[in-house]
Amino acid sequence: PRKIIIDTDPGIDDAVAIAAALFDERLDIRLFTTVAGNVSVDKVTKNLLKLLAFWNKGVPVAIGSDRPLLREAINASDIHGSTGMDGYEFPKSKYELLTKNHAVIEMYKVLMESKGKTTIVGIGPLTNIALLLRIYPECVERIEELVIMGGSLGRGNYGVLSEFNIAADPEAAKIVFESKIPLTMVSLDVGEKALVLPEVRDQIQKMNKTGDMISQLFHYYRGGNSDTGLKMYDGCAIAYLLEPEMFEVKEAYVAVETQGMLTAGATLVDLDGYLGNATNCRVCVDIDEEQFREWFLEAIQKCE
Ligand code: BDR
Ligand code: CA
Repeated sequence: PRKIIIDTDPGIDDAVAIAAALFDERLDIRLFTTVAGNVSVDKVTKNLLKLLAFWNKGVPVAIGSDRPLLREAINASDIHGSTGMDGYEFPKSKYELLTKNHAVIEMYKVLMESKGKTTIVGIGPLTNIALLLRIYPECVERIEELVIMGGSLGRGNYGVLSEFNIAADPEAAKIVFESKIPLTMVSLDVGEKALVLPEVRDQIQKMNKTGDMISQLFHYYRGGNSDTGLKMYDGCAIAYLLEPEMFEVKEAYVAVETQGMLTAGATLVDLDGYLGNATNCRVCVDIDEEQFREWFLEAIQKCE
């Protein structure tokens, strides 16, 4: 199986991604790291530990950055609820899974100590990953690929042109995009097409324990407004690892806007080479919606 580290801010769509990754035998999750994003780092860590208690899984969890590199934290509690994962009565968090060290140190240790290379999956703001690359540049050679959910080809979901994970910490995103590591960007544009429609939500409710839990969270996602479908942004990052043929991918140079008065956090996906720079990213520009729906159902089916 492919060795991965998941850097996350659960988050209802993060919970779906985590479920899909934990129960797929093609993936071996070596470490979870948490980052302030959808809500505070304390809350997202608690949520992750609750999920791991729910499934009785023993993957180590390292607490990461409690704020962006330079800016004040933003949050998405309007989408995920004030706890970041409203809507289900979970068992108590498994605090015994917490590691001693900060997420960045634990990531470094996993990268350096694992046999072969490890993939990092970033489904929150990029603060921890930027710090990792700056503090331990030697670990770049140990990273097979960095797959992030973040950025957009055009419009945003946080600002007019900015997607939430990049808008939350544009300076961190800039460091990551300029780092020359093998980078794949699972964009907002594909996430918006990766929909769970009400009938699919009802279908998973009856499937198993996980399907029931996820469908209950879905009743709170976006304030319960699920008629037009719920967007599985972070799930797409896991779908990309497992079934990349589901996506249309283009190589491009991607720049992160950090200076714009109105556009900080925008990603400029230079598909036509206007900026004259070498490509630095594989960008998922489209997704087969039907294949995603089937993958999602199969992924939940595999869970307990
Ligand atoms: C991203 O923002 C968060 O709210 C989601 O969990 C996802 O990672 C989508 O823009
Ligand atoms: Ca997320």
